[in-house]
Order: sequence, then C-alpha cells, then structure tokens
Amino acid sequence: MEKIVVKGGYKLSGEVNIDTAKNSVLPIIAASILCGDRCCIKNSPRLEDVNVICNLLRSMKADIEFDGNDIYINTRNMVPIEPNKELVGKMRASFFIMGPMLARFRRFKTALPGGCNIGSRPIDLHLKGLAALGATITQGHGYVEATAPKLKGNRVYLDFPSVGATENILMAAIFAEGETIIENAAAEPEIEDLAAFINYMGGKIIGAGTDTINIIGVNSLHGTTHTPIYDRIEAGTFMVAAAITRSKIKINGVKQEHLKPVVAKLKECGVIMETTDNGIIVNATEELCPVDIKTMPYPGFPTDMQAQMMSLMCTVPGTSLITETVFENRFMHASELKRMGANIKIDGRIAIVEGIEKLSGAEVKASDLRAGAALILAGLAADGITTVNDIYHLDRGYVEIEKKLKKLGAEIKRTI
Ligand code: EPZ
Repeated sequence: MEKIVVKGGYKLSGEVNIDTAKNSVLPIIAASILCGDRCCIKNSPRLEDVNVICNLLRSMKADIEFDGNDIYINTRNMVPIEPNKELVGKMRASFFIMGPMLARFRRFKTALPGGCNIGSRPIDLHLKGLAALGATITQGHGYVEATAPKLKGNRVYLDFPSVGATENILMAAIFAEGETIIENAAAEPEIEDLAAFINYMGGKIIGAGTDTINIIGVNSLHGTTHTPIYDRIEAGTFMVAAAITRSKIKINGVKQEHLKPVVAKLKECGVIMETTDNGIIVNATEELCPVDIKTMPYPGFPTDMQAQMMSLMCTVPGTSLITETVFENRFMHASELKRMGANIKIDGRIAIVEGIEKLSGAEVKASDLRAGAALILAGLAADGITTVNDIYHLDRGYVEIEKKLKKLGAEIKRTI
C-alpha cells in the first residue's frame, strides 16, 4: 500500500497553484445527466473521486472522455439502469446522481451511498426533499428507489443546511412543474457553482449561495462548457502548511471571499495574510498564538478545515478549543496526532488542544481525506520522520499533494 513519508523541520517558500474544487466538479458531473447533451468540464482535477463518478455514469451508458484535465461528457444515451454497486459504495457523492436521474428519467434505484467514516451520513433530508416534490420513495435491502410520474414544484425546508441534500433537491426540481423553493439551504460556493453550470445549460435557479434558493421548472436543458471554481479547502490546507512550518508562501487561484473564516482565524492566530490579484500571500514567520475553532455550515468555519487546524494548534503553545458541530465523528485524526506527541483531550464534540514546542515524527494512519492532510501537515513540523499510511483517502481529494509540497521545499515523498 502506498504511503507518504515526511521529514520535518523544513521551511516552505515559493508559490503553489490550487486545483479546481472536487466538491464542485462532482455535483456538476452529476448535473450533466439533466441535459442529455454534450458538456465539457474544463480544468477538472484528476482525482479518484472524479474517476469514480465518471465510471458510475459510464455504467449507465454515458459517454465520457478525458482530454488532459478537460472532461467531455455526453449523457444522450444514458439509461436509468441501477449503477454499479461497488462504485456507489466507494463515495458519498455517488448519491448526488439521484436528483438528476429522477428529474430526467422519473425513476431511479441505487444502493445506499458509502463515503468517509466521519459520521453516519444519513440521507433523510435528501429523501424528504424528493418526496416533497412528489417522488415515491421505497427503501430496503440496502437500496433506495424513487419514482415520480412528474415532479411538482414545492416549498422544501431543510432541517439542516445539508450540502448534498440542497444539491440533490435543486437538481431534481429543474424539470418540476412550477416553482420550488428550498429554505435553510446550504450556501457553500460549490452550490453557487453548480447553479451557474445548470443556468448555463438553460436552467432557472435564483439565490444559490444564500439560504433560500428558487428553481423555476423548465422543459429541457442543452449542453455547455464550464470551468469549476478553485478548491477553497485545498487552498486552506496550504495556508495551514505555511503556518505550521512558520513559512511564507503564495497561493494562486483562491478567492479570499470563499475562505473568510479560515483567513480570519489564521490572522487571529498571528499569521499575516495579504490578498493579491489572483491569490493570497501567507506569512507565518511571527510567533503564533492559540485560537478556538467552531465548525459551522457556510459561511461559518468549514468542517473540512477542522483537522488541518487541529494539527496547527498542536504546535502553538497554549490551549485551544475545537468544536465540531457538523459531523459526529470527525476527530479520528486526534488519536494519530497523539502518537506524534500531541496533547489533545476529546470530550464529545469538543477537542481541547494543549500546544507543545515540537511534535515527534511517527508512523500514523489517515482515517479520512482531511485527516490524511492534517497528518502530513503535522509531519512537516515534527521532529524526525512521519509516515502516513492509507493515503488512498488523500488521493480522493488532493492532486499529488506531496509533489506540490516538495516544490515548496518540503522533504516529502510517496513510497510503496
Ligand atoms: C459535503 O458532504 C462535502 N462532500 C463534504 O466534504 C463536507 O464535509 C460536507 O458537505 C459539509 O460541508 C461533497 O460535497 C462531495 P452534508 P455532504 O449533507 O453533502 C447531516 C470532504 O472532505 N445530514 O452537508 O455529505 C450529516 O449527517 C467531504 O471533501 C443529515 O442528517 O454533507 C452531517 O452531520 C467530507 N441528513 C451534516 O448533515 C441528510 O440527509 C452535514 O452533511 C444529509 C446530511
């Protein structure tokens, strides 16, 4: 099994270019089902999750070709057969095809989704929303099926601003009769990007990126070409890489407005952040101080940056409280950080971190995508060698992270 080996203690310098966002590209690929036409998603990151969702659509007769980082998808010949169960089980986002398949084919059956083990990850909000649009939902034996003669627009209130549920319901509503209003919707930039893609195809979506989204049903969509937004979580991960090594680097391609809570927290910690025309200069050469973090739905502090910030707080003398409000089991990286000498106490949804002078390199294991990134960041600052195992989690969401860090001056390599 591949692993990443890091020798700690090296400063970083130079510039890093951020890829487009996995959490934008995945729902956009799902949305291409709606048009039954040819679409091009440009500059897509070559990630395992992108391969999985493309193979999922291919298993239902979509034509998909890669030309470098551009993905050419023609969903004209797609059929609503049950997608490959193994592929569905690999990734939570595989469930994002439910909405568009139901909208276009009026019926769809799929195995329940898999994904990271950061929580139970139920789909009740997805199903409640689809049912509100008139779908009949049946579940059993690990499968869920939705059928609908014709979906009808409705007002849907989400008990929690779920990203996936917002995306699934939004896509299901595209051809529904009349208007759909999603209230308490998730407002992440990736949802705004998905809505932009669908509107370029001829959809009528207003308010994406706010907590209330209006969708006016249309009869059909046509193909389009779209370049997704940059990956704010990858950018945030590199911001923490600069902070944890007390370095100064430039991060190209990130929109500061998509990372306000992360930039604000790093500034509070003592990191100097300077916005440039196409990115951000992160300068962490000064003494840093501990900060408290509480993850919230967007525009709050992103849960996908919690693990990375915990690694940073382990290296900043003093006490920081990290509260994870979005997922119920997203502190698995804490036990691995403790193997590196970190002083962390977990009390339910709160982690109490006592920063220490120096972490020590150790053999550790990635439990999920962002935990893997957090352990690499900790290795950059640790004394000695850190080996991160199970890095297949990382390859789901980061394109060659070790090569980007090496280019910035880290002593890091991928080995078998
Ligand atoms: C998306 O997952 C992202 N994945 C996650 O990124 C991200 O952490 C998450 O949103 C929150 O921002 C993709 O976009 C592919 P949710 P999603 O539905 O849609 C509960 C990464 O690292 N919930 O917003 O699955 C759920 O249990 C990944 O890139 C229900 O209760 O997240 C969780 O506690 C990890 N019922 C909370 O909502 C439902 O029907 C947030 O989940 C749906 C969700």
